[in-house]
Amino acid sequence: MQDNSQPITVIILAAGNGKRMNSTLPKVLHTIGLRPMLQYSLQLSTEVTTSINIKLVVNSLIKNEKAYQDLKNSFAFEEIVQKEQLGTGDAIKSVLLANDDIDIQSDILVLYGDTPLISLCNIENMKKLLQEGRDLCLSAFITTEPQGYGRVITDKSNSVLSIVEEDNTDAHTKKIQLCNSGIMMMKASLLENFISKNHTIKVNKEFYLTDIAAFAKKNGYSTSYVETPKENVMGVNTRPELVLAENIIQKRIQNRLLSCGVTLITPDTSYFAYDIKAEQDVTIYPHVFIGPGTVLKQNSLIYSFSHIQGCIISANASIGPYARIRPNTLVAQNAKIGNFVEIKNSVISKNSKISHMSYVGDVRIGENVNIGAGTIFCNYDGNKKNTSHVKSGSFIGANSTIISPVVIEENATVAAGSVINMNVEKDSLAIARSKQKNLSKKSIIKNKC
Ligand code: UD1
Ligand code: CA
Repeated sequence: MQDNSQPITVIILAAGNGKRMNSTLPKVLHTIGLRPMLQYSLQLSTEVTTSINIKLVVNSLIKNEKAYQDLKNSFAFEEIVQKEQLGTGDAIKSVLLANDDIDIQSDILVLYGDTPLISLCNIENMKKLLQEGRDLCLSAFITTEPQGYGRVITDKSNSVLSIVEEDNTDAHTKKIQLCNSGIMMMKASLLENFISKNHTIKVNKEFYLTDIAAFAKKNGYSTSYVETPKENVMGVNTRPELVLAENIIQKRIQNRLLSCGVTLITPDTSYFAYDIKAEQDVTIYPHVFIGPGTVLKQNSLIYSFSHIQGCIISANASIGPYARIRPNTLVAQNAKIGNFVEIKNSVISKNSKISHMSYVGDVRIGENVNIGAGTIFCNYDGNKKNTSHVKSGSFIGANSTIISPVVIEENATVAAGSVINMNVEKDSLAIARSKQKNLSKKSIIKNKC
């Protein structure tokens, strides 16, 4: 969208107190699709303009949050701290005070950090109206449940006359179903004029950006709106609204996966992080959780009740049911991970199998390895994590305990029930358990007496 004409300045408002969320975490850091709401607005901004033109308004508390620090490491923007939360108009004022060099010929796009579902296409529709000569364009939506939203008052030619906030509605305006999404575009000259003429804050009263509509109309600017589906512009102020937004995001992710050729057997029973990548003919069974940073390659199978994140599942590999794959794990082609297996920070190479009830942490497993049921890699010595290697062709008998760090060389066999704390040479059999004795019961009883 950084095509032709005017550079766009994007202002993201994210400094509000978020009281309605009833949380110690700032509202805009609550996640949908397991990424902070604010990240959606930042991502969209990068698609609209260059980083130098992205202005993010925050309060000072958010700066202590790790999730916010992570965003700062991933996105470039100018951070503006709004000292007191005196309303959306005041938040904009703090940006203009910090940026006396905004080109008054330019266009401004205002995004709200708590309105994460808007798409680039919705913004483009607003931009068109500005290019056609409007000074202000709102994104508005129609809903039969307008409570809490500013109502948009228009005339017959669809020009916006004003926005009436919920607190100021009367019996007539309460019934209006055309609502303000908060997202708007305007000429910088109109915004600067509005802010400079409306800087006085009345006691106990916030300075509303939404008053810009009436200001524009009164001062001869042209105003308009584009109607946007509610599901793209709903605001997220409360926990129930967070649930609604999550449902919308999940549907979008499901549709993206389906269009990539993924089979989702009962998609609504599973949960997907926003950034899931999946290739053609992957099958995801019911009741699966897929967290951030997961890649599922062609034909891989994820069986029910598996919890996987931060891993690559290669072509034709299968996971679960009831498997837990934790971050930094690579499951290579044709590998099979069965029920009640937990894997962390490990590589499971081609054609290897860990079919039942095992813990595999910090292990490099070669090709064609079989890890028997109940094998535990003891990677933690109480002080640090240790790595083990099980090289190609090896066989670990059931119920073995491997005390890391050890190296089990190629084609070795570990006898079932062994406790291994030394390296095992190539082509050898390691038995590390006490020898079985079969005693006559009679002699045991006699000895006891
Ligand atoms: C706002 C709009 C309302 C609209 C609704 C859509 C105003 C006055 N009202 O109401 O017309 O229908 O969004 O969801 O704008 N913020 C700041 N600093 C502040 C106050 C708020 O940065 O001092 C930020 C918040 O973090 C939030 C955004 O501005 O991202 C909107 O503020 P919020 O308090 O949620 O406004 P609403 O009551 O939802
Ligand atoms: Ca809001």
